[in-house]
Amino acid sequence: MGSLAIKKVFSLLINFVLFSQLVFSLEVPAVSSNSSKEATALLTWKNSLQNESQSHSSSWTSVSSSTLNLSRNPCNNWLGISCNLAGSVVKIDLGNSSLQGTLHGFSFSSLPNLAYIDLYMNTLFETIPPQISYMSKLEHLDLSFNQFSGKIPPQIGSLSKLKYLDLSCNQFSGKIPQEIGKLTNLEVLHLAYNNLNSSIPEEIGRLNFLTELLLHRNHIDGSIPSSLGNLTNLVNLLLSDNELSGFVPSEMGNLSNLDLLFIHRNCLIGPIPPTFGNLKKLISLSMFANSFSGPIPLEIGNLNSLMQLSLLQNNLSGSIPPSLGDLANLTLLHLNNNNLSGSIPTEIGKLTSLISLQLNENQLHGYLPTSFANLSNLVNLTLHDNQLTGPIPQGIGNLLNLAFLRVDTNQFIGNLPQNICHGLSLRYFVASNNHLDGRIPKSFKNCTSIVRVFLGDLK
Ligand SMILES: *[C@@H]1O[C@H](CO)[C@@H](O)[C@H](O)[C@H]1NC(C)=O
Ligand SMILES: *[C@@H]1O[C@H](CO)[C@@H](O)[C@H](O)[C@H]1NC(C)=O
Ligand SMILES: *[C@@H]1O[C@H](CO)[C@@H](O)[C@H](O)[C@H]1NC(C)=O
Ligand SMILES: *[C@@H]1O[C@H](CO)[C@@H](O)[C@H](O)[C@H]1NC(C)=O
Ligand SMILES: *[C@@H]1O[C@H](CO)[C@@H](O)[C@H](O)[C@H]1NC(C)=O
Ligand SMILES: *[C@@H]1O[C@H](CO)[C@@H](O)[C@H](O)[C@H]1NC(C)=O
Ligand SMILES: *[C@@H]1O[C@H](CO)[C@@H](O)[C@H](O)[C@H]1NC(C)=O
Ligand SMILES: *[C@@H]1O[C@H](CO)[C@@H](O)[C@H](O)[C@H]1NC(C)=O
Ligand SMILES: *[C@@H]1O[C@H](CO)[C@@H](O)[C@H](O)[C@H]1NC(C)=O
Ligand SMILES: *[C@@H]1O[C@H](CO)[C@@H](O)[C@H](O)[C@H]1NC(C)=O
Ligand SMILES: *[C@@H]1O[C@H](CO)[C@@H](O)[C@H](O)[C@H]1NC(C)=O
Ligand SMILES: *[C@@H]1O[C@H](CO)[C@@H](O)[C@H](O)[C@H]1NC(C)=O
Repeated sequence: MGSLAIKKVFSLLINFVLFSQLVFSLEVPAVSSNSSKEATALLTWKNSLQNESQSHSSSWTSVSSSTLNLSRNPCNNWLGISCNLAGSVVKIDLGNSSLQGTLHGFSFSSLPNLAYIDLYMNTLFETIPPQISYMSKLEHLDLSFNQFSGKIPPQIGSLSKLKYLDLSCNQFSGKIPQEIGKLTNLEVLHLAYNNLNSSIPEEIGRLNFLTELLLHRNHIDGSIPSSLGNLTNLVNLLLSDNELSGFVPSEMGNLSNLDLLFIHRNCLIGPIPPTFGNLKKLISLSMFANSFSGPIPLEIGNLNSLMQLSLLQNNLSGSIPPSLGDLANLTLLHLNNNNLSGSIPTEIGKLTSLISLQLNENQLHGYLPTSFANLSNLVNLTLHDNQLTGPIPQGIGNLLNLAFLRVDTNQFIGNLPQNICHGLSLRYFVASNNHLDGRIPKSFKNCTSIVRVFLGDLK
């Protein structure tokens, strides 16, 4: 799932939550000396921004310095600014507003009631000042999709009311400060798409209310702390595209509310914990491109909400557990490029929602089960580079949606399915390097969509 898609889901939720605050901001607040102090703080920051960028932003021109009138209250008509009944600024909502500059001119101490800052999708750069710690009422901080750099200041740990922290898609580097473990009200922590390195602080395991932990696309190394198993409210845990190593802690099997678990493209080793069989709500389990070894635990067959199971490019061995046939909602099953042996269980034929089945480049042998003919939604089927033998089941010719079929480099014998192009969708078909004999089926005349075909010795 892309960060943008996730952001959309959350911005809907946030808009709902903030509706009540917006109603308050319609009240005409009393003008106090505090509010003129707050106005000055906002205008000082505005003046520190690059002026050519401000002209793009109609929302910010109402406070442009040329029309500056300090006696004016920022709570009236300053777009993107909301106040409480006492006339103090509680919210800055200036996402996607073409702002360009830094936070160094932002007087955090002058805006003590700020609860909400959204500066998402601007061109803000340099570091987050440590004075951010003055925002003791801050609940929501979104600085994502900017060009912030430097370290995440450890002082962020003082924002004890924080529920939502999104710093993703910036250039933050260095380590995730362990002080983040003090943010015990945090529900959402997005740090994806930065240059963060070093290991995940085990203190993250204290954030009991966390539902979203997105750390993907960084350079985070070390092992996954077992304390993550404490975060039983987690719904999305994305650690993919990092340099994580070592074993996956079996405690992660305690994360029984997970929908998405992405740990692909790391350097993880060891077995897939059988405790993953407890992740009953899991919709997508993505572990590809690591060095996992040992068998696929049969407990994976318990994950009956699963739609995507991607274990490709590991070193998994043993046979494919027949229990995978219980994953009735599976649309994607990618087990290719492992070291799986044994024959393909006939139970695979129960996975009638499958769209993509990749079993290539393993050590699979034996006959292909005729139950494959039941996989009527299949679009992609790759079985190449195994030691499969016997005939290719004729029923495969009845898979009307099949577009991509590779069965090459096996020991298949006999004829190709006679009605192979019955569904007219086949685009790519490779069957070479087998022991097939006989003729190319007549139905090939119907293969009008085909762009590539390799049939070896067939005539
Ligand atoms: C003004 O701010 C001070 C300290 O920041 C606070 O003690 C005081 O209550 C505020 N006054 C009003 C009217 O909000
Ligand atoms: C922006 O323009 C105002 C006056 O027009 C000036 O006071 C301020 O220094 C300028 N800011 C920058 C960053 O150039
Ligand atoms: C500033 O605001 C005050 C009070 O609202 C008003 O009397 C004054 O004319 C304004 N000044 C300018 C330059 O707009
Ligand atoms: C940002 O604002 C522009 C112009 O108002 C709009 O077209 C665009 O869809 C917005 N982008 C996002 C991601 O909100
Ligand atoms: C981590 O990032 C920091 C800041 O960019 C850098 O100084 C440090 O060398 C990096 N550490 C490693 C092990 O790459
Ligand atoms: C969190 O996890 C660690 C390691 O698994 C454990 O020692 C600790 O007791 C847990 N803490 C809480 C508060 O559950
Ligand atoms: C968490 O998982 C570990 C290892 O799988 C287990 O021993 C422990 O009892 C679990 N803790 C909870 C609170 O379920
Ligand atoms: C399987 O998918 C159907 C249709 O989308 C859905 O109604 C059902 O709840 C899913 N089953 C599980 C166990 O998630
Ligand atoms: C794969 O796992 C086997 C043991 O199951 C081990 O002997 C072999 O070295 C591993 N290969 C790689 C490339 O990690
Ligand atoms: C596959 O497994 C065998 C037996 O466990 C092992 O000798 C071999 O190294 C493995 N192959 C790879 C590519 O890891
Ligand atoms: C099928 O496989 C091809 C080639 O690997 C890929 O481009 C395509 O996206 C796949 N389609 C589905 C539905 O998985
Ligand atoms: C070609 O397709 C048409 C329409 O699906 C079908 O009636 C016909 O039997 C097919 N021909 C062969 C040789 O399979």
